[in-house]
Amino acid sequence: MSDRVLITQPIDPAGLAMLEAENFAVEVWPGPEPMPKSALLDRVRGCAGLISMLTDSVTADVLEAGPLRVVAQHAVGINNIDLDAARSLGVAVAHTPGVLTEATADLTLALILGAARRILESDRLVRSGQWVGWSPTLMRGMELNGAVLGIVGMGRIGAAVARRAEAFGMQVIHHNRSSGVPLQTVLETSDVLTLHCPLTPETHHLIDAAALARMKPGAILINTARGPVVDESALVDALDSGHLGGAGLDVFEQEPLVHPGLLRSERAILLPHIGSATVATRRKMGEMVASDLIRGLTGQPLEHGVSN
Ligand code: DGY
Repeated sequence: MSDRVLITQPIDPAGLAMLEAENFAVEVWPGPEPMPKSALLDRVRGCAGLISMLTDSVTADVLEAGPLRVVAQHAVGINNIDLDAARSLGVAVAHTPGVLTEATADLTLALILGAARRILESDRLVRSGQWVGWSPTLMRGMELNGAVLGIVGMGRIGAAVARRAEAFGMQVIHHNRSSGVPLQTVLETSDVLTLHCPLTPETHHLIDAAALARMKPGAILINTARGPVVDESALVDALDSGHLGGAGLDVFEQEPLVHPGLLRSERAILLPHIGSATVATRRKMGEMVASDLIRGLTGQPLEHGVSN
């Protein structure tokens, strides 16, 4: 009997075709809303393989309900998967590192440029009919040439952002667990601070009220990593008081909910977690999870296994 596989959102057809060619019995949750936990627990029963999204809580009960042999996460971040439970239950876990680096770095630059040059505020002004004409004081923003970009988390995506920022004349500094300058230095010297660290117990609310207070007046905060790295209420306070000059956010603490203070902030750019959302990258992600799921279910070593 062919193995059963559950996919918790439609993925690129190329990945789906790879699974169907293996004659797995594939069920795809239609989305676009994330699969509710109760449905996940129900539908995963009898499945050997799961292609999960970052919106799924892949806890021990989900792993056991299969019982699953392989989980392939359609994301590089894996904070939603209980890796300890996977290890003790012998479930192999794969993810999609590398393929989304450039797309996510592009979006990070879009947010940096958008926040620095007040692109959305300017667009709203034009659409509102309130624009009265060119003025030397209209919508002055931050010049990127010569500004300091602080990168927290200098992995693949952080490095790709650094390359782009240098092309804009920015001076790049970074903080990592094992390299770069101390976090305090990055906080205190950056004109733009961008987050590219994974979400772990150590990075939860890494950017809290105290960290925000250390940032330069007028600085911009960018987050394309994971929402809970930032204390959103503290960020709202920092924007409301005028201490921060702006924020560009692609991720939120409780997606898809967004803090009302952010929704009303003129200086915040808010995107619906689209860092990797290009046609090419989503195709590669779909193929990558399909490939590792097939490898795992057919007894081959995973190519992009998480060391759990
Ligand atoms: C990831 O891969 O972790 C992103 O957040 C999803 O694109």
